[in-house]
Amino acid sequence: MSDFVIAPSILSANFARLGEEVDNVLAAGADWVHFDVMDNHYVPNLTIGPMVCKALRDHGVTAPIDVHLMVSPVDRLIGDFVEAGASIITFHPEASDHIDRSLQLIKNAGLQAGLVFNPATPLHYLDYVLDKIDVVLIMSVNPGFGGQAFLPSALDKLREARKIIDRSGRNIRLEIDGGVKASNIAEIAAAGADTFVAGSAIFNADDYAAEIAQFRTNLAN
Ligand code: DX5
Ligand code: ZN
Repeated sequence: MSDFVIAPSILSANFARLGEEVDNVLAAGADWVHFDVMDNHYVPNLTIGPMVCKALRDHGVTAPIDVHLMVSPVDRLIGDFVEAGASIITFHPEASDHIDRSLQLIKNAGLQAGLVFNPATPLHYLDYVLDKIDVVLIMSVNPGFGGQAFLPSALDKLREARKIIDRSGRNIRLEIDGGVKASNIAEIAAAGADTFVAGSAIFNADDYAAEIAQFRTNLAN
């Protein structure tokens, strides 16, 4: 797959002017908006919920909103994010009591669904649900905070996930989240990723468009 998706994580945006930040990053060439939901229970941090997702839609954001749920329980929030205008919902299998049911809730609402794999979470959670999966999200940091260093063990996991996806013959995106930068994006793509979340690397850059252009240049080489 050669169509790369760049999904800036708004966790590193300036929340005091979030609408403008999202407009700017999309105008700078981003494809998706990565929306990190943390509950101070499944992960030790607290962020944003469905109201903020809806506010972005009301503000006029039409790009796909990629909701990464780092919450437990999972199911209670799925309907709220469907109503709020989410496009993609991914969740951590360990956080759901009934993984197949959570996936069905997302799919039945007409959204794309995905599972997220922490650095120490095995990929076997995909075994019996691959037919309901649109996105496999590999965490290259332990979830909870932006600005952490990329864990190299994610590269082997990406290669493993790429094989599973290719064998399935299904159109499943392979997304990577955590510590992605212009300097490592080519290596990450070579391991099989096609969808790249980046928070601090993009939002800490002076020029979002130049940073995203650098990502794409490095992906092309
Ligand atoms: C971490 C989040 C990530 C994070 C990425 O729990 O899921 O999306 O914001 O931030 P960077 O790119 O700074 O590692
Ligand atoms: Zn995320």
